[in-house]
Amino acid sequence: MANILCIGAGYVGGPTMAVIAKTCPEHRVVVVDANPARIAAWQSDRLPIYEPGLDEVVRAARGRNLFFSTEVDRHIAEADIIFVSVNTNTKTFGQGAGKAADLQYWEKAARQILENATSSKIVIEKSTLPVRTAEAMECILNSDSSHGIHFDILSNPEFLAEGSAIQDLEQPDRVLIGGRGTPSGQKAVQTIVDIYAHWVPRERIITTNLWSSELSKLTANAFLAQRISSINAISALCEKTEADVTEVAHAVGADSRIGPRFLQASVGFGGSCFRKDILNLVYLCEHYALPEVAAYWEQVIKMNDYQQERFVSNMVSAMFNTVAGKRIALFGAAFKANTGDTRESPALAVCRELLDEHADVILTDPYALENAAEDLGEQAAHVTFEPDPYAAAAGSHAIAVVTEWRQFAELDYEAIYRSMVKPAFIFDGRNLLDRRKLFGMGFNVYAIGKPPLTHFGAA
Ligand code: NAD
Ligand code: UDX
Repeated sequence: MANILCIGAGYVGGPTMAVIAKTCPEHRVVVVDANPARIAAWQSDRLPIYEPGLDEVVRAARGRNLFFSTEVDRHIAEADIIFVSVNTNTKTFGQGAGKAADLQYWEKAARQILENATSSKIVIEKSTLPVRTAEAMECILNSDSSHGIHFDILSNPEFLAEGSAIQDLEQPDRVLIGGRGTPSGQKAVQTIVDIYAHWVPRERIITTNLWSSELSKLTANAFLAQRISSINAISALCEKTEADVTEVAHAVGADSRIGPRFLQASVGFGGSCFRKDILNLVYLCEHYALPEVAAYWEQVIKMNDYQQERFVSNMVSAMFNTVAGKRIALFGAAFKANTGDTRESPALAVCRELLDEHADVILTDPYALENAAEDLGEQAAHVTFEPDPYAAAAGSHAIAVVTEWRQFAELDYEAIYRSMVKPAFIFDGRNLLDRRKLFGMGFNVYAIGKPPLTHFGAA
């Protein structure tokens, strides 16, 4: 039996530890966080994040061998294994601002571990970090050998995607564990392999050196985002040439060397990871004097920004070059379906741009309105938050689908059409809706990477 601790009860720490606790009943798992409101929510019936299947997993283990607490110091002292899953956002100040990862929370957690540890421990980087962070971690934690305590540092990056976190955790494509080649390092790796081996087939548990593990996480996110930027780049060309991006993606993805996934053209990728991790990669390349490599990856971000801007420009130009004073219903606030998370959501980027154009924006989303209001800050005062999509659409000039919630595909668009100002527009930023059907109802339809279907002849 091991005492497992996770520092950071966020989107990663909470679900990951819940799955470990559920599948390893002999281990005691504690998740701590500096934020008491977050811990209180994990202890309640209303968990702090929305994630399909999460409630059931938490319910199965909470109070048995899964505990949530704000007592960071006490639990550090008791732990044998500590996962550190704190936020590593992009730095907003000083050197590397706008690109480098802000490592302050990470380092604070390390120092807290050092201050409170009374026995040797395995410390695991669960957060996504720049390659070679473990070296700094070893420096801090093993700086004083006089007390006879030794820390083994491992890297075990998390690959879950929000909205499918429980499935991704229960049936991962792979688990990656990086460690030192020393006897003590290898023993630590084996300890963590044994935990995952409770439910992950051994051949899916990859062990590497520390730096490969750290860099693989940044690389995986960069590759995934690159695919989206690639298909989004092609979507712009489709709109000029009457090619259909869905058909192109299907034809291209049918090549088994390319594969069909992550080729869905969209209003751009969002979420807390892709942008920050690619910027981090770009920063690292610059740091190691590799400007060509940095520029290559930076283009993935530039293409994403372009796609979001292009979506709004298309809206404005289709709506006779002005949206000022026009009511526009934004269908979606979350950065993707099945999550309440709005971090870096393209929906909010579109919302902000429409506010700049003085549009009257109504935001509707089944789970993300609270987070959206918080993220929009002062601008939230100029937005109407409406949980009911029918009410959001009523009286509006246009609907823009910016999150691919299934619910939005299943609405009665005949009724919605009747309730809207004419001519009525739909901008589908996710290719979620049946555009021909909508066109038949009377809508003017603009879908990403497809020829527009309009009732204005040459418009
Ligand atoms: P999050 O912001 O939701 O959670 C981090 C938590 O850590 C916060 O609640 C914060 O209060 C807490 N914290 C920070 N410093 C602390 C300290 N010293 N003591 C106690 N608590 C502390 O972040 P997240 O989305 O869970 O991401 C965590 C890490 O995992 C990041 O590095 C991220 O890049 C990575 N990651 C995230 C995802 C994802 O889908 N969100 C997926 C894979 C990897
Ligand atoms: C991502 C990685 O997938 C995950 O492995 C990593 O651990 C964290 O970052 P996440 O950001 O939660 O996960 O969701 P993901 O499914 O990757 O979607 C990211 C964004 O890309 C969303 O805005 C989504 O809508 C968009 N997307 C995804 C597309 O626009 N097209 C696609 O084909 C796929």
